[in-house]
Amino acid sequence: MANHWEEVQKKLDSIHEKQLFRETRIYQGIDFCSNDYMGLATNPSMLDFFQSQKDIYPFGSTASRLVRGNSASMDRFEREFANFVEGEAALLVSTGFTANFGLLDSIAGPDCYVFTDRLNHASILDGIRISGAKKKYYNHLDLIHLRSLLEKVDLEDPSRNKKRIVVTESLFSMDGDSPDLKSLLALKNEFGFVLVLDEAHAFGIYGPMGKGLVFRDLDHKEIQSIDYRVYTLGKSLGLEGGIIVTKRIGRDHLVNVMRSFIFSTAPLPMVSELASFALSLLGSMDKERKNLLTMAEELKQSLKQNGFLITNSTSHIIPLLLETEKEALFYAASLQEAGLDVRAIRPPTVPTPRLRISLNTKLNIKNIHRLVKELVLVREKWSSL
Ligand SMILES: Cc1ncc(COP(=O)(O)O)c(C=O)c1O
Repeated sequence: MANHWEEVQKKLDSIHEKQLFRETRIYQGIDFCSNDYMGLATNPSMLDFFQSQKDIYPFGSTASRLVRGNSASMDRFEREFANFVEGEAALLVSTGFTANFGLLDSIAGPDCYVFTDRLNHASILDGIRISGAKKKYYNHLDLIHLRSLLEKVDLEDPSRNKKRIVVTESLFSMDGDSPDLKSLLALKNEFGFVLVLDEAHAFGIYGPMGKGLVFRDLDHKEIQSIDYRVYTLGKSLGLEGGIIVTKRIGRDHLVNVMRSFIFSTAPLPMVSELASFALSLLGSMDKERKNLLTMAEELKQSLKQNGFLITNSTSHIIPLLLETEKEALFYAASLQEAGLDVRAIRPPTVPTPRLRISLNTKLNIKNIHRLVKELVLVREKWSSL
Protein backbone atom coordinates (compact mmCIF):
# COMPACT_ATOMS: atom_id res chain seq x y z
CA MET A 1 0.00 0.00 0.00
CA ALA A 2 1.32 3.45 -0.88
CA ASN A 3 2.48 5.56 2.03
CA HIS A 4 -0.16 8.21 2.70
CA TRP A 5 2.27 11.03 3.53
CA GLU A 6 4.41 10.30 0.48
CA GLU A 7 1.26 10.51 -1.60
CA VAL A 8 0.35 13.85 0.02
CA GLN A 9 3.86 15.21 -0.62
CA LYS A 10 3.69 14.16 -4.27
CA LYS A 11 0.36 15.90 -4.71
CA LEU A 12 1.71 19.09 -3.14
CA ASP A 13 4.82 18.96 -5.35
CA SER A 14 2.63 18.70 -8.40
CA ILE A 15 0.44 21.62 -7.21
CA HIS A 16 3.60 23.72 -6.69
CA GLU A 17 4.96 22.83 -10.13
CA LYS A 18 1.76 24.04 -11.78
CA GLN A 19 1.90 27.35 -9.85
CA LEU A 20 -1.33 26.35 -8.12
CA PHE A 21 -0.18 26.24 -4.49
CA ARG A 22 -2.43 28.13 -2.07
CA GLU A 23 -1.95 29.18 1.53
CA THR A 24 -3.92 31.09 4.13
CA ARG A 25 -2.56 34.56 4.84
CA ILE A 26 -3.56 37.55 6.95
CA TYR A 27 -4.97 40.20 4.68
CA GLN A 28 -3.66 43.70 4.24
CA GLY A 29 -4.12 46.58 1.83
CA ILE A 30 -7.13 48.22 0.20
CA ASP A 31 -9.90 45.70 -0.33
CA PHE A 32 -10.39 44.86 -4.02
CA CYS A 33 -11.16 41.20 -3.45
CA SER A 34 -13.66 40.54 -0.68
CA ASN A 35 -17.38 39.89 -1.06
CA ASP A 36 -18.26 42.54 1.52
CA TYR A 37 -19.79 44.49 -1.35
CA MET A 38 -21.88 46.85 0.80
CA GLY A 39 -19.22 47.36 3.46
CA LEU A 40 -21.51 46.01 6.20
CA ALA A 41 -18.77 43.86 7.77
CA THR A 42 -17.19 47.06 9.08
CA ASN A 43 -20.25 49.32 9.18
CA PRO A 44 -20.10 51.53 12.34
CA SER A 45 -23.86 51.15 13.00
CA MET A 46 -23.41 47.37 12.94
CA LEU A 47 -20.67 47.71 15.56
CA ASP A 48 -22.87 49.97 17.73
CA PHE A 49 -25.69 47.47 17.43
CA PHE A 50 -23.41 44.59 18.38
CA GLN A 51 -22.05 46.47 21.40
CA SER A 52 -25.56 47.39 22.53
CA GLN A 53 -26.60 43.75 22.72
CA LYS A 54 -27.01 42.93 26.41
CA ASP A 55 -28.11 39.36 26.06
CA ILE A 56 -25.42 37.52 24.15
CA TYR A 57 -25.56 34.25 26.14
CA PRO A 58 -25.29 31.51 25.15
CA PHE A 59 -22.41 32.37 22.78
CA GLY A 60 -22.93 29.17 20.87
CA SER A 61 -26.22 27.78 19.67
CA THR A 62 -25.27 24.55 21.55
CA ALA A 63 -27.01 22.12 19.20
CA SER A 64 -28.66 21.74 15.81
CA ARG A 65 -31.75 23.83 15.15
CA LEU A 66 -33.95 20.75 15.54
CA VAL A 67 -32.61 20.09 19.04
CA ARG A 68 -31.82 23.10 21.26
CA GLY A 69 -30.02 25.32 18.76
CA ASN A 70 -32.99 27.27 17.47
CA SER A 71 -33.51 30.79 18.81
CA ALA A 72 -36.28 33.37 18.48
CA SER A 73 -33.90 35.59 16.50
CA MET A 74 -33.41 32.86 13.87
CA ASP A 75 -37.16 32.45 13.40
CA ARG A 76 -37.56 36.22 13.28
CA PHE A 77 -34.77 36.71 10.77
CA GLU A 78 -36.21 34.03 8.50
CA ARG A 79 -39.60 35.81 8.51
CA GLU A 80 -37.97 39.19 7.88
CA PHE A 81 -35.82 37.84 5.06
CA ALA A 82 -38.72 36.02 3.39
CA ASN A 83 -40.77 39.25 3.58
CA PHE A 84 -37.90 41.30 2.20
CA VAL A 85 -37.52 39.13 -0.91
CA GLU A 86 -41.27 38.44 -1.13
CA GLY A 87 -41.04 34.69 -0.60
CA GLU A 88 -43.36 32.44 1.37
CA ALA A 89 -40.79 30.99 3.75
CA ALA A 90 -37.06 30.91 4.41
CA LEU A 91 -34.63 28.49 6.03
CA LEU A 92 -31.44 29.75 7.71
CA VAL A 93 -28.43 27.43 7.63
CA SER A 94 -24.79 27.82 8.63
CA THR A 95 -23.29 28.84 5.24
CA GLY A 96 -24.21 29.43 1.63
CA PHE A 97 -22.21 26.31 0.77
CA THR A 98 -24.36 24.26 3.14
CA ALA A 99 -27.48 25.79 1.60
CA ASN A 100 -26.66 24.82 -2.01
CA PHE A 101 -25.12 21.48 -1.17
CA GLY A 102 -27.93 20.41 1.15
CA LEU A 103 -30.69 21.76 -1.08
CA LEU A 104 -29.51 19.96 -4.23
CA ASP A 105 -28.93 16.76 -2.26
CA SER A 106 -32.48 17.04 -0.85
CA ILE A 107 -34.43 17.73 -4.02
CA ALA A 108 -32.44 15.73 -6.57
CA GLY A 109 -31.80 11.99 -6.72
CA PRO A 110 -30.70 9.19 -9.04
CA ASP A 111 -34.00 9.30 -10.91
CA CYS A 112 -33.65 12.94 -11.84
CA TYR A 113 -31.88 15.21 -14.34
CA VAL A 114 -30.06 18.29 -13.12
CA PHE A 115 -29.05 20.87 -15.73
CA THR A 116 -26.28 23.07 -14.47
CA ASP A 117 -24.38 25.98 -15.95
CA ARG A 118 -20.84 24.74 -16.49
CA LEU A 119 -19.43 27.48 -14.25
CA ASN A 120 -21.78 27.07 -11.28
CA HIS A 121 -20.21 27.25 -7.83
CA ALA A 122 -18.62 24.17 -6.23
CA SER A 123 -21.38 23.98 -3.60
CA ILE A 124 -23.93 23.46 -6.38
CA LEU A 125 -21.85 20.93 -8.31
CA ASP A 126 -21.03 18.96 -5.16
CA GLY A 127 -24.71 18.92 -4.11
CA ILE A 128 -25.67 17.47 -7.48
CA ARG A 129 -22.87 14.91 -7.26
CA ILE A 130 -23.85 13.71 -3.79
CA SER A 131 -27.53 13.44 -4.83
CA GLY A 132 -26.63 10.87 -7.50
CA ALA A 133 -28.67 12.75 -10.13
CA LYS A 134 -27.81 12.69 -13.82
CA LYS A 135 -25.79 15.86 -14.29
CA LYS A 136 -26.16 17.75 -17.60
CA TYR A 137 -23.76 20.64 -18.07
CA TYR A 138 -24.81 23.46 -20.35
CA ASN A 139 -22.35 26.03 -21.67
CA HIS A 140 -21.95 29.13 -19.57
CA LEU A 141 -25.07 31.37 -19.86
CA ASP A 142 -26.04 29.52 -23.04
CA LEU A 143 -29.81 29.07 -22.81
CA ILE A 144 -29.96 27.80 -26.40
CA HIS A 145 -27.70 24.96 -25.36
CA LEU A 146 -29.85 24.41 -22.26
CA ARG A 147 -32.95 24.22 -24.47
CA SER A 148 -31.33 21.63 -26.72
CA LEU A 149 -30.44 19.48 -23.69
CA LEU A 150 -34.00 19.80 -22.34
CA GLU A 151 -35.39 18.76 -25.73
CA LYS A 152 -33.06 15.76 -25.83
CA VAL A 153 -34.19 14.61 -22.40
CA ASP A 154 -37.82 15.10 -23.50
CA LEU A 155 -37.17 12.61 -26.30
CA GLU A 156 -35.80 10.08 -23.79
CA ASP A 157 -38.62 10.64 -21.31
CA PRO A 158 -41.55 12.16 -23.24
CA SER A 159 -44.08 11.90 -20.41
CA ARG A 160 -41.62 13.74 -18.15
CA ASN A 161 -41.78 11.09 -15.42
CA LYS A 162 -38.30 12.01 -14.26
CA LYS A 163 -37.83 15.28 -12.47
CA ARG A 164 -35.86 18.03 -14.24
CA ILE A 165 -34.04 20.64 -12.19
CA VAL A 166 -32.20 23.66 -13.60
CA VAL A 167 -29.73 25.45 -11.37
CA THR A 168 -27.78 28.63 -12.02
CA GLU A 169 -26.25 31.59 -10.29
CA SER A 170 -27.91 34.91 -11.09
CA LEU A 171 -24.50 36.60 -11.05
CA PHE A 172 -21.37 34.52 -11.57
CA SER A 173 -18.80 35.23 -8.93
CA MET A 174 -15.72 34.55 -11.04
CA ASP A 175 -16.92 36.13 -14.30
CA GLY A 176 -19.22 38.93 -13.16
CA ASP A 177 -21.87 38.06 -15.75
CA SER A 178 -25.51 36.93 -15.59
CA PRO A 179 -27.93 34.69 -17.46
CA ASP A 180 -30.92 36.24 -19.20
CA LEU A 181 -33.43 35.64 -16.41
CA LYS A 182 -36.52 36.46 -18.52
CA SER A 183 -35.56 33.83 -21.11
CA LEU A 184 -34.77 31.34 -18.35
CA LEU A 185 -38.25 31.81 -16.88
CA ALA A 186 -39.78 31.42 -20.34
CA LEU A 187 -37.94 28.08 -20.66
CA LYS A 188 -39.22 27.05 -17.25
CA ASN A 189 -42.76 27.78 -18.42
CA GLU A 190 -42.25 25.68 -21.52
CA PHE A 191 -40.39 22.70 -20.02
CA GLY A 192 -41.80 22.69 -16.49
CA PHE A 193 -38.52 22.18 -14.64
CA VAL A 194 -37.79 22.98 -11.01
CA LEU A 195 -35.66 26.13 -10.86
CA VAL A 196 -32.95 26.84 -8.29
CA LEU A 197 -31.46 30.33 -8.52
CA ASP A 198 -28.42 31.34 -6.48
CA GLU A 199 -28.49 35.08 -5.75
CA ALA A 200 -25.33 35.01 -3.59
CA HIS A 201 -23.44 37.75 -5.43
CA ALA A 202 -26.40 39.84 -6.60
CA PHE A 203 -28.31 40.24 -3.36
CA GLY A 204 -27.73 43.58 -1.68
CA ILE A 205 -26.62 45.38 -4.83
CA TYR A 206 -29.19 44.94 -7.59
CA GLY A 207 -32.92 45.59 -7.71
CA PRO A 208 -34.92 47.99 -5.56
CA MET A 209 -33.52 48.10 -1.99
CA GLY A 210 -30.87 45.59 -3.09
CA LYS A 211 -33.39 42.75 -3.13
CA GLY A 212 -31.48 41.01 -5.90
CA LEU A 213 -31.32 40.63 -9.67
CA VAL A 214 -34.69 38.91 -9.89
CA PHE A 215 -36.29 42.15 -8.71
CA ARG A 216 -34.48 44.10 -11.40
CA ASP A 217 -35.23 41.72 -14.26
CA LEU A 218 -38.45 39.84 -13.49
CA ASP A 219 -42.05 40.63 -12.60
CA HIS A 220 -43.79 39.50 -9.43
CA LYS A 221 -45.39 36.43 -11.03
CA GLU A 222 -42.09 35.28 -12.50
CA ILE A 223 -40.30 35.74 -9.18
CA GLN A 224 -42.98 33.73 -7.40
CA SER A 225 -42.56 30.91 -9.90
CA ILE A 226 -38.89 30.36 -8.95
CA ASP A 227 -38.96 27.27 -6.75
CA TYR A 228 -35.86 27.94 -4.68
CA ARG A 229 -33.77 31.06 -4.26
CA VAL A 230 -30.46 30.69 -2.42
CA TYR A 231 -28.74 33.57 -0.61
CA THR A 232 -25.71 33.91 1.58
CA LEU A 233 -25.18 36.17 4.57
CA GLY A 234 -21.44 36.07 3.89
CA LYS A 235 -21.39 38.61 1.09
CA SER A 236 -23.51 41.80 1.01
CA LEU A 237 -24.81 41.25 4.55
CA GLY A 238 -21.23 41.18 5.84
CA LEU A 239 -21.75 38.14 8.11
CA GLU A 240 -21.90 34.38 7.55
CA GLY A 241 -24.71 31.97 6.91
CA GLY A 242 -26.95 30.77 4.11
CA ILE A 243 -30.67 31.16 3.54
CA ILE A 244 -33.04 29.34 1.20
CA VAL A 245 -36.29 31.01 0.16
CA THR A 246 -39.07 28.75 -1.04
CA LYS A 247 -42.68 27.72 -0.46
CA ARG A 248 -43.79 26.83 3.06
CA ILE A 249 -43.96 23.14 2.16
CA GLY A 250 -40.54 23.47 0.54
CA ARG A 251 -39.15 24.65 3.85
CA ASP A 252 -40.96 21.89 5.80
CA HIS A 253 -39.50 19.33 3.41
CA LEU A 254 -35.94 20.63 3.83
CA VAL A 255 -36.26 20.75 7.63
CA ASN A 256 -37.13 17.07 7.51
CA VAL A 257 -34.65 15.76 4.96
CA MET A 258 -31.74 18.18 4.51
CA ARG A 259 -28.82 16.40 6.15
CA SER A 260 -26.46 19.40 6.28
CA PHE A 261 -29.21 21.26 8.19
CA ILE A 262 -30.34 18.41 10.44
CA PHE A 263 -26.92 17.11 11.46
CA SER A 264 -25.04 20.35 12.07
CA THR A 265 -24.87 22.87 14.90
CA ALA A 266 -27.07 25.91 14.31
CA PRO A 267 -25.41 29.27 13.53
CA LEU A 268 -24.45 31.49 16.49
CA PRO A 269 -27.57 33.27 17.83
CA MET A 270 -25.68 36.56 17.38
CA VAL A 271 -25.53 35.96 13.64
CA SER A 272 -29.29 36.16 13.20
CA GLU A 273 -29.49 39.21 15.54
CA LEU A 274 -26.87 40.98 13.43
CA ALA A 275 -28.42 39.75 10.19
CA SER A 276 -31.78 41.35 11.06
CA PHE A 277 -30.00 44.60 11.73
CA ALA A 278 -27.94 44.36 8.53
CA LEU A 279 -31.10 43.74 6.54
CA SER A 280 -32.70 46.85 8.03
CA LEU A 281 -29.70 48.91 6.85
CA LEU A 282 -29.49 47.40 3.38
CA GLY A 283 -32.80 48.75 2.12
CA SER A 284 -31.77 52.37 2.58
CA MET A 285 -28.38 52.14 0.85
CA ASP A 286 -29.47 53.24 -2.64
CA LYS A 287 -26.85 55.97 -2.79
CA GLU A 288 -24.08 53.49 -1.99
CA ARG A 289 -25.42 51.02 -4.58
CA LYS A 290 -25.47 53.69 -7.29
CA ASN A 291 -21.97 54.82 -6.41
CA LEU A 292 -20.69 51.23 -6.47
CA LEU A 293 -22.05 50.63 -9.96
CA THR A 294 -20.69 53.96 -11.22
CA MET A 295 -17.22 52.97 -9.96
CA ALA A 296 -17.57 49.58 -11.65
CA GLU A 297 -18.38 51.22 -15.00
CA GLU A 298 -15.46 53.62 -14.61
CA LEU A 299 -13.07 50.76 -13.83
CA LYS A 300 -14.24 48.65 -16.79
CA GLN A 301 -13.86 51.58 -19.20
CA SER A 302 -10.48 52.49 -17.86
CA LEU A 303 -9.15 48.91 -17.99
CA LYS A 304 -10.32 48.53 -21.58
CA GLN A 305 -8.85 51.90 -22.59
CA ASN A 306 -5.54 50.77 -21.11
CA GLY A 307 -5.59 47.59 -23.15
CA PHE A 308 -6.43 45.07 -20.43
CA LEU A 309 -8.55 42.07 -21.27
CA ILE A 310 -11.55 41.67 -18.99
CA THR A 311 -14.53 39.29 -19.04
CA ASN A 312 -17.95 40.45 -20.28
CA SER A 313 -18.71 41.62 -16.78
CA THR A 314 -22.05 43.33 -16.30
CA SER A 315 -21.46 43.95 -12.63
CA HIS A 316 -19.21 45.11 -9.80
CA ILE A 317 -17.14 41.91 -10.20
CA ILE A 318 -14.51 42.61 -12.85
CA PRO A 319 -12.14 39.75 -13.69
CA LEU A 320 -8.97 40.71 -15.54
CA LEU A 321 -7.83 37.82 -17.70
CA LEU A 322 -4.16 36.82 -17.81
CA GLU A 323 -2.20 34.29 -19.79
CA THR A 324 -0.63 32.10 -17.15
CA GLU A 325 -0.86 31.23 -13.49
CA LYS A 326 2.63 32.67 -13.00
CA GLU A 327 1.57 35.99 -14.51
CA ALA A 328 -1.57 36.14 -12.35
CA LEU A 329 0.52 35.46 -9.22
CA PHE A 330 3.05 38.12 -10.24
CA TYR A 331 0.32 40.73 -10.75
CA ALA A 332 -1.38 39.90 -7.45
CA ALA A 333 1.89 39.96 -5.47
CA SER A 334 2.98 43.25 -7.04
CA LEU A 335 -0.36 44.90 -6.36
CA GLN A 336 -0.26 43.66 -2.80
CA GLU A 337 3.21 45.14 -2.38
CA ALA A 338 1.72 48.45 -3.52
CA GLY A 339 -0.97 48.14 -0.83
CA LEU A 340 -3.81 46.97 -3.07
CA ASP A 341 -5.40 43.68 -2.06
CA VAL A 342 -6.18 41.97 -5.37
CA ARG A 343 -6.06 38.19 -5.61
CA ALA A 344 -5.13 35.77 -8.34
CA ILE A 345 -7.77 33.15 -9.06
CA ARG A 346 -6.50 30.02 -10.73
CA PRO A 347 -7.71 26.58 -11.81
CA PRO A 348 -9.49 24.57 -10.61
CA THR A 349 -11.56 27.47 -9.19
CA VAL A 350 -11.77 28.90 -12.71
CA PRO A 351 -10.79 27.41 -16.10
CA THR A 352 -8.27 30.19 -16.88
CA PRO A 353 -6.10 32.39 -14.60
CA ARG A 354 -7.27 35.88 -13.72
CA LEU A 355 -7.34 38.66 -11.18
CA ARG A 356 -10.80 38.79 -9.67
CA ILE A 357 -11.38 42.45 -8.90
CA SER A 358 -14.48 42.96 -6.81
CA LEU A 359 -15.59 46.42 -5.76
CA ASN A 360 -17.25 47.48 -2.55
CA THR A 361 -18.89 50.62 -1.20
CA LYS A 362 -15.88 51.55 0.95
CA LEU A 363 -13.82 52.32 -2.14
CA ASN A 364 -13.77 55.68 -3.88
CA ILE A 365 -12.96 56.83 -7.38
CA LYS A 366 -9.38 57.71 -6.38
CA ASN A 367 -8.85 54.08 -5.37
CA ILE A 368 -10.09 52.99 -8.78
CA HIS A 369 -7.70 55.32 -10.62
CA ARG A 370 -4.84 54.17 -8.41
CA LEU A 371 -5.60 50.52 -9.16
CA VAL A 372 -5.45 51.12 -12.93
CA LYS A 373 -2.22 53.10 -12.58
CA GLU A 374 -0.61 50.31 -10.57
CA LEU A 375 -1.83 47.69 -13.03
CA VAL A 376 -0.13 49.55 -15.88
CA LEU A 377 3.11 49.65 -13.87
CA VAL A 378 2.87 45.94 -13.04
CA ARG A 379 2.33 45.12 -16.72
CA GLU A 380 5.50 47.07 -17.60
CA LYS A 381 7.42 45.18 -14.91
CA TRP A 382 6.10 41.84 -16.14
CA SER A 383 6.98 42.52 -19.78
CA SER A 384 10.51 43.55 -18.84
CA LEU A 385 11.20 40.29 -16.98
C1 LIG B 1 -22.49 31.50 -6.08
C2 LIG B 1 -22.12 31.10 -4.69
N1 LIG B 1 -23.01 30.41 -3.97
C3 LIG B 1 -22.71 30.01 -2.72
C4 LIG B 1 -21.51 30.31 -2.15
C5 LIG B 1 -21.20 29.83 -0.77
O1 LIG B 1 -21.56 30.78 0.15
P1 LIG B 1 -20.81 30.87 1.56
O2 LIG B 1 -19.53 31.59 1.31
O3 LIG B 1 -21.77 31.61 2.41
O4 LIG B 1 -20.59 29.49 2.04
C6 LIG B 1 -20.57 31.05 -2.85
C7 LIG B 1 -19.28 31.40 -2.21
O5 LIG B 1 -18.45 32.09 -2.70
C8 LIG B 1 -20.88 31.45 -4.17
O6 LIG B 1 -20.00 32.13 -4.91
